[in-house]
Amino acid sequence: MMQFAVIGDPIAHSLSPLLHQEIYRQLHIDASFEKIQLNLDSLASFMTQNELDGFNVTVPYKQSVIPFLDELDESAQTIGAVNCVHHGKGYNTDWIGFLKAMDMNNIVLEGMDCIILGAGGAARAVAYALIQAGVKSISVQNRTKEKGNQLLNWINSVFQNNERPEQFDVIINCTPLGMWPDTESIPDIPINKDQVLADIVYNPLETNWLISGKQKGASIVGGLDMFIFQGMSSLDIWFDKKISEKIELEPIKKVLKSELC
Ligand code: ATR
Repeated sequence: MMQFAVIGDPIAHSLSPLLHQEIYRQLHIDASFEKIQLNLDSLASFMTQNELDGFNVTVPYKQSVIPFLDELDESAQTIGAVNCVHHGKGYNTDWIGFLKAMDMNNIVLEGMDCIILGAGGAARAVAYALIQAGVKSISVQNRTKEKGNQLLNWINSVFQNNERPEQFDVIINCTPLGMWPDTESIPDIPINKDQVLADIVYNPLETNWLISGKQKGASIVGGLDMFIFQGMSSLDIWFDKKISEKIELEPIKKVLKSELC
């Protein structure tokens, strides 16, 4: 039996096992998927001693696993964060998950003026995705100005960024604002009917921010699709082929939604 896992701290609420177990069930794959709670002191021994066939990495270890890896995929190297490991090589599938989610929801990013809320690892993966998608401009809004400026400086160093526009076509929330149990908190940015609002938060499925956007006539994309596609993209890396194309999405969504608040 093949063995996979997700590591993080905290990890109790991770939906990755449910996602992958449902995929194994659909595709008749004989494999297990565990949650592994690690503290920082046990990260080194886990990284050097585990015999897993592959694993995902979540908060707060997406950067701290890097020194233990033999090699990084180009996107993981550029983003500076790893969420998927296969035989000593680190990958980033968060940005692919974001692009696939936008595509699935018929959102065209090319030529758009975008703003990212937040400046952490998720924001950086989304910035990388926006650059790959050929957007026109990327702005950043972050609680801690200095961190926001650092992300913007990085974007500007790898991307021909245009003037900060008055209006944004696409707003992507890459902060935990609105995430259960703190569902009342909401990003501080004006919204209008012509915009696309995308959230990386998937619990609740629709944050209050997305609900208020929908009420104003904006298009909205919740975080669940991005979560599912980062997992499917990890699966393709571990199995060294595009097996995710065979997966039926609706049963997976149904299983995951049944666990959400
Ligand atoms: P991740 O890897 O998921 O991106 P992270 O690196 O901790 O997580 O980044 C979280 C982002 O959400 C940060 O940009 C953080 O802002 P700061 O740079 O000021 O810390 C932002 N964030 C977290 N809690 C927030 C809150 N309550 N209000 C606004 N922004 C918040």
